[in-house]
Amino acid sequence: MFNLDEFPSFFIANWKLNGNKSFITEYIKKLQTNTENCLVICPPTIYLNFIKIKYKNLFIGSQDVSIYNEGAYTGEVSVNMLVDNDIKFTIVGHSERRSYFNETNKNILIKSDKLIEKNIIPIICIGETLEQKEKNLTKEILSRQLDECIPTTSNYKNSLIAYEPIWAIGSGLTPTIEQIDEVHSFIKNYDNKYNNFKILYGGSVKSSNSKQITKLENVSGCLIGGASLNIDEFNKIID
Ligand code: PGA
Repeated sequence: MFNLDEFPSFFIANWKLNGNKSFITEYIKKLQTNTENCLVICPPTIYLNFIKIKYKNLFIGSQDVSIYNEGAYTGEVSVNMLVDNDIKFTIVGHSERRSYFNETNKNILIKSDKLIEKNIIPIICIGETLEQKEKNLTKEILSRQLDECIPTTSNYKNSLIAYEPIWAIGSGLTPTIEQIDEVHSFIKNYDNKYNNFKILYGGSVKSSNSKQITKLENVSGCLIGGASLNIDEFNKIID
């Protein structure tokens, strides 16, 4: 397992269901890799190996993993298969998986635990809906997600947490800088265990707001969806 402390910041590109071989070839040609930050590209699963074989020096991550190890589970990809392909990171509990694929906190806990056991860093996503935010339930929701999604085996050396307000994902809306700071500080102080965790922010990050967000002491990087698909934009964000 490599040391997460080696990196000042983390920039995770979540391509979701986008990309193809020619897109990847062009993208990687232009990607600015001369940075001390940790860059992780999370393409659709079928392209993980294509990137890994061609571009050995890049970190790649999967967008999900199965709760099962092997057997009759059509369409699934197991933790051992990720290990076999030298995958170092996996996004777990993204709000799109929670809402479109009925992923529960319990599933997220199981997945994170299995990943940690095999030395893959889970990027565990938590965040509130707009309705919950408007009812002032953000901290309550995040507390429950922390309690129910983060395994006891998780620590600041083997896991990352991403705060992604669901209403900010793909919407062009973001919390204010003060709100991001407040929530990240809340997570870090929720329990002593989280004091040293690296907490990433995700939700409509782009080059025009990334500097301000990553400057915050409690923010250790970003999980970037839409803007990570545009290589010029992504290069500006990681610059
Ligand atoms: P977005 O997505 O940057 O397009 O808002 C972030 C995410 O879904 O992780």
